[in-house]
Amino acid sequence: MKLALSAMLLTTCLMAKINGPVAGVAGVPGEADCTDCHSGTINSGTGKLQIQLVDAATWTPGQQMRVRVTLADPAARRWGFQLTARSATSPTANAGTFALADDSVTRIETGMDNSQYVEHNSAGSRLGQKDSSTWEVLWTAPAAGFGPVTFYAAGNGANGDNTNDGDQIYTTSLTVNAAESKPPTSFSLSQFTFGGGWYSAIYLLNPNDTAATATLIFRGADGQPLDVPGAGTTKEISLAPKGSGFLEVPDGGPLTRGWVEVQLPDGVTGYGLIRQAVESRIYETIVPLATTSSKEAVMLMDQTTASTLASVVNLGSEEVLLTFTARDQDGVTIGTATVPLAGKNALAGPVNLLPGLEGTPGKRGWLAVSATGPISVSLLRVNGEAITTLPVLQK
Ligand code: HEC
Repeated sequence: MKLALSAMLLTTCLMAKINGPVAGVAGVPGEADCTDCHSGTINSGTGKLQIQLVDAATWTPGQQMRVRVTLADPAARRWGFQLTARSATSPTANAGTFALADDSVTRIETGMDNSQYVEHNSAGSRLGQKDSSTWEVLWTAPAAGFGPVTFYAAGNGANGDNTNDGDQIYTTSLTVNAAESKPPTSFSLSQFTFGGGWYSAIYLLNPNDTAATATLIFRGADGQPLDVPGAGTTKEISLAPKGSGFLEVPDGGPLTRGWVEVQLPDGVTGYGLIRQAVESRIYETIVPLATTSSKEAVMLMDQTTASTLASVVNLGSEEVLLTFTARDQDGVTIGTATVPLAGKNALAGPVNLLPGLEGTPGKRGWLAVSATGPISVSLLRVNGEAITTLPVLQK
């Protein structure tokens, strides 16, 4: 067995190596390095081998990044390297995938278990070049949850004599952690109505270079899970890198009003849409996603030509006290209402039906809603059948 192995080593050593070494000599623990064939002692020269992640300190799942290998050695006149990426905790597990950034100076050698080794080729050995040599390669990071990645490299600061003697061999490694993934941010869509002539939809955009998943949690006005036809009580929407997503709940069955807790990964945005069909006419409006940290909302309203419908969602699980204050154009208070709202419950209806705000129809002014806990508020302006959302001007 030993004989066969050394005989095999001998034949591989005799093969021309100028065009890049064999796989498996990047200095990974348990694997070999260049001293398998090259004379000399690892890291005994005066030079230095370095691995860098270009413009990044951490890796981001699925993202293509640049890795730079730099070998400096004052005595060297020819250069070589080999680089690979593994799990930091388990060096036999491959991490991510390599691609060439410049195939005129680098090549990829595939080893066992499809492990990839990026290395110099003949032109990349840069015969005659002094001081240092740099190679860059592209690396696509693994999926989220992989854990820290270690890059291993071995380098040869060679004398350029076309043999495997008189060279300086270096090894190094670089361990890179995954970028901390932020927990998804909760938003709320306070108008979500279907059946009885109504239709609702949600549009989502993923501007990121990586795939993302949005989670929609449907609730009734009573705070209980709402079973949405075709979606269930919770729906995950997968968004491709730079992709978009869509969910619709067509009209059908009895009128159902609810709200949606929308959990979005960093960067993902979107909005809701509600539509009402009245005979052959269709009225629709966009409903923005509201952040869930606000305890107050201020909106202008005009009840001279339209009526105002409010929808307030208590995002917390504790009961809150809502205080509505309506003022006219002169800033004079024309009504106040104080209403308790249980955890995760939603309140929806014409503003003037709230006890204390009966005097607002026929007036122009603004409405402030404040609460003792986080709420989401949206107002609809309804003119006959036409509807539009009123923007929250202050939170
Ligand atoms: C399997 C044996 C073997 C391994 C392993 C090996 N080499 Fe070599 N290498 C050679 C041989 C043999 C030569 C002499 C030239 C030839 O035969 O092509 C050589 C030559 C070179 C040269 C040119 C030397 C000069 O002075 O002109 C460079 C650069 C080089 N190797 C880089 C590397 C690097 C970097 C590694 C490790 C990542 C490595 N080699 C691993 C066998 C090997």
